[in-house]
Amino acid sequence: MEELSGFYKLSIEERLTKIKKIANLTDDEAKVLTDSGALELDRADKIVENVVGAVHIPLGLGLNFVINGKPVLIPMAVEEPSVIAAACKSAKLALPEGFKADTDESIMFGQIQLVGIENLDQAVKKIEQNRKKIMDVASEFMKPHERFGCGARGFEIKKYTTSRGNMIVVDFAIAVGDAQGANMTNTVLENVAPTLAELTGGKIRLRIISNLATKRKARASAVWKKEIIGEEAIEGILDGYEFAKVDPYRCATHNKGIMNGIDAVVVATGNDWRSVEAGAHSYAAIGGYHSLTHYHKNETGDLVGSIELPLPVATVGPAINTSPTAKIALKIMNAKTSKELAMAMACVGLANNMAALMALSTVGIQQGHMKLHARNVALYVGATAEEAEQVAEILSKEKNFDSEYAKKVIEKIRSKK
Ligand code: MEV
Repeated sequence: MEELSGFYKLSIEERLTKIKKIANLTDDEAKVLTDSGALELDRADKIVENVVGAVHIPLGLGLNFVINGKPVLIPMAVEEPSVIAAACKSAKLALPEGFKADTDESIMFGQIQLVGIENLDQAVKKIEQNRKKIMDVASEFMKPHERFGCGARGFEIKKYTTSRGNMIVVDFAIAVGDAQGANMTNTVLENVAPTLAELTGGKIRLRIISNLATKRKARASAVWKKEIIGEEAIEGILDGYEFAKVDPYRCATHNKGIMNGIDAVVVATGNDWRSVEAGAHSYAAIGGYHSLTHYHKNETGDLVGSIELPLPVATVGPAINTSPTAKIALKIMNAKTSKELAMAMACVGLANNMAALMALSTVGIQQGHMKLHARNVALYVGATAEEAEQVAEILSKEKNFDSEYAKKVIEKIRSKK
């Protein structure tokens, strides 16, 4: 998107004017953004309990993303400096091809736990013999959602012998379309459970969606050309990746960096970041905790990066409808389906990871981080936005980030005016 080059140098008003035009935002929508996405308290009070206020986090834009040949602007809500800049940088280095991405169908699993089962094999047989009847009950509760391509797709039976006795767990696969699917899935489970209890003689315990959404994965990949990022950066990234492969302490931080980007899009679009986090890390733990991204050098010596993880996110549903900014964020992204949203998130996760590995394995990240930290210190001690840049410059140069020193620097700047 040529018209966005130098975006970071513009004032907030100038940026908004550009985005308003590109994303076709109405005046009211732009106002929601300039009002810091203000969530009215009486609305907040209807969403959660014991409300006393609302918390705001900065909303920025991930630029330079080309996904499956199309430019995509990616809203990112995050309090950590550098995350958005890192995503933009890595995406820019992947141009002009950008990222390729795809997703599975949006299928969630929901689990029903039955305890006190005397004979596990007999119980399983009974459920198998009544498969159609059980599916009919499940399908009945999915009827209202069928027109959106949703429906019960099948189930799997698992037997467990535990320290508290025999258990049967039935995992239902439910196609949830563009919704996150928790309400839909849990409703089906609660309504099917009595049939299962009757058939098995077991007692119903838990009926709940699983966040390990292995049938709702998104994938993305990109090639970073050696002519663009340099051979040393490629070697550094591959060494950094290898470190994550062999060392779980490193891998946790490596995956955290991936989630820096993904969570920022999840939050910006009003999605459930706890479910995405649970899904990502439990998926990474399958077969031993591992990296969610993978890297290799192709035959021409370029870096190929890829990512795969469950991304159970929605473009419709109550959480999105109640967030003043989520719908605008989706409009800015032009994400019409949950699959498009999940693909963009996968690309951002890969971009953030690649940028972190490149910085960590070459110049380190502290230089950039400390400059941003210096800016925050300056703002904290009362600098205006304009002064903050100047103060940050001085604090970084002096390598002194003390707030008292920052105050003195501000005074000096003001005395010269
Ligand atoms: C910081 O929030 C994220 C990083 O630590 C990620 C990484 O180490 O790969 C920079």
